[in-house]
Amino acid sequence: MKKRKNILKIAIDSPAAAGAGTLAKSLSKHYNLIYIDTGKAYRFIALNKLENPKKFNLKFIKKKIKNLKIKDFDNKKLLSDKVGTEASNIAKNKKIRKLIFSFQTNFAYNPPKKFNGSCLDGRDITYNIIPDADFKFFITANLKTRAIRRYKEFKRLKKSITYNEVLKSIKKRDKSDFNRKISPLKKTKDSMLINTTKLSKRACFLKIKKIIDKKLNN
Ligand code: C5P
Repeated sequence: MKKRKNILKIAIDSPAAAGAGTLAKSLSKHYNLIYIDTGKAYRFIALNKLENPKKFNLKFIKKKIKNLKIKDFDNKKLLSDKVGTEASNIAKNKKIRKLIFSFQTNFAYNPPKKFNGSCLDGRDITYNIIPDADFKFFITANLKTRAIRRYKEFKRLKKSITYNEVLKSIKKRDKSDFNRKISPLKKTKDSMLINTTKLSKRACFLKIKKIIDKKLNN
């Protein structure tokens, strides 16, 4: 794989709805990095499975990933709880993970020239996708806070779902993402733990910016 030299690489792992996406977006904007929400790639495959259950096989997935563009991530259908749950199911499949791997690493190590680097968030970014990232963060928040945040997001999107359903779904996803055999969600020793439970979006961004700037200006 072609790798661009002297780029800034930020790797973020987190459980669902911990605020990693919001943080990654603001960091990417600030440092002019390409932002890849890697969960969207799993959600994209999951949506294809739900919409084409009969056609769904490795050849079909391979073709879909080959043609996958970042703008496909804007599809609102990817945001539903059903798609998120299915994404977590298919994410246990080694062959599917392997197909998504090169899509992610290519953006991480070879971002388009107009960017200074890359910022990826997901479950296995700090140890599998960008093991040599310049900055590694594990973003978390307590379960209730994450469920409230996700519930509010769903309400904004006019999705009909109750708070208890969201809570149950996040719990189930945590269990699966943390305990699966292949590429489980974990905090690596070299990742910095950031708990966003009591932090506003702005406070979280400023906290991380301070950490990054300190190292960059050294
Ligand atoms: O982050 P998001 O909730 O969109 O991710 C959906 C699912 O995709 C996660 O629950 C997880 O199982 C899977 N995923 C993963 N590895 C990643 C990103 C997401 O296994 N790097």
